[in-house]
Amino acid sequence: MKPFSHRSVLLQEVVESLVRGPGGNFLDGTVGGGGHAAAILAASGPSGFLKGCDRDDRALEAAAGRLAEFEGCWELRKGEFASMPEWVEAGWADGATMDLGVSSPQLDEAERGFSFMQDGPLDMRMDQRQGLTAADIVNGWDTESLANLFFELGGERESRRVARAIEAARTGAALQTTLQLADVVGRAKGGRGGAKTHPATQVFQALRIEVNDELGGLRRGLESVWSLLKPGGRLAVITFHSLEDRLMKEFGRRLEREYESPGGVDVPELRIPKKPEARWLSRKAVVSGQIELQENPRARSAQLRVLEKLNK
Ligand SMILES: C[S@@+](CC[C@H](N)C(=O)[O-])C[C@H]1O[C@@H](n2cnc3c(N)ncnc32)[C@H](O)[C@@H]1O
Repeated sequence: MKPFSHRSVLLQEVVESLVRGPGGNFLDGTVGGGGHAAAILAASGPSGFLKGCDRDDRALEAAAGRLAEFEGCWELRKGEFASMPEWVEAGWADGATMDLGVSSPQLDEAERGFSFMQDGPLDMRMDQRQGLTAADIVNGWDTESLANLFFELGGERESRRVARAIEAARTGAALQTTLQLADVVGRAKGGRGGAKTHPATQVFQALRIEVNDELGGLRRGLESVWSLLKPGGRLAVITFHSLEDRLMKEFGRRLEREYESPGGVDVPELRIPKKPEARWLSRKAVVSGQIELQENPRARSAQLRVLEKLNK
């Protein structure tokens, strides 16, 4: 197995927004290789404490190794960030972070089935205890549902043509590997046609988001992790996809509003005044600078937004 190597994005920006001096309690809902966690502990040491989770066993193992130098200052558990309230007390944290999406090792290890560049099983599960795999979707969903998935979660403009090609290719024998699927998609789209990205990029992205219920997990996770912050605590979220970023923006907008809309329908005359529960640290998302963009291609689509919890 290759060593776990993941370059953390917007590292300094996350640390500066969460750590405001020595000490403090921190949460990392996507501990991955432990890059952000280690930087938070280094900046808040020696009395800072971090509780972290990930749904990937390999990531947890790597994070435990990375954090060994901060012995006694952290606790890691396997699981969803949305489940953190099961083992973290409400109002415990001064700062929390979630760095969404996949880690480089998940993409780089062929056997995980995330990559269209190397052959592996059509898997894409971050948590390998989970039942649903990419193969179940590719071989089990009808053409219409596949087309909608590729369009909605991947932004694939030729979603119908691609879905029909998959339907034809799987007749007789199921599609089983990443390169089989990449080939079917590539041929349906007429090859790369001068584009910079591989023709299967959008289809693979849509499948990965669906297999791991990434948007549902984020919706639940924002609520859960927010409940664990103290008043004055901060939540720093890095997104890599416009749909994730939209969820984070809508979450913050609802909390910063000075009114509630009964029944969730916003009729100005029926609004009920309330105190805002949050403020944005900055109105605009923080993005990577030139140096980071040159050194780390993953940073290209990263956007950081930070919300501060206000006293009610
Ligand atoms: C981009 S990596 C995190 C990298 C980490 N910040 C670092 O610096 O090393 C994203 C990680 O989040 C995990 N993950 C994604 N969604 C999750 C969820 N809903 N609950 C827990 N972990 C999740 C993935 O398994 C992956 O290891």
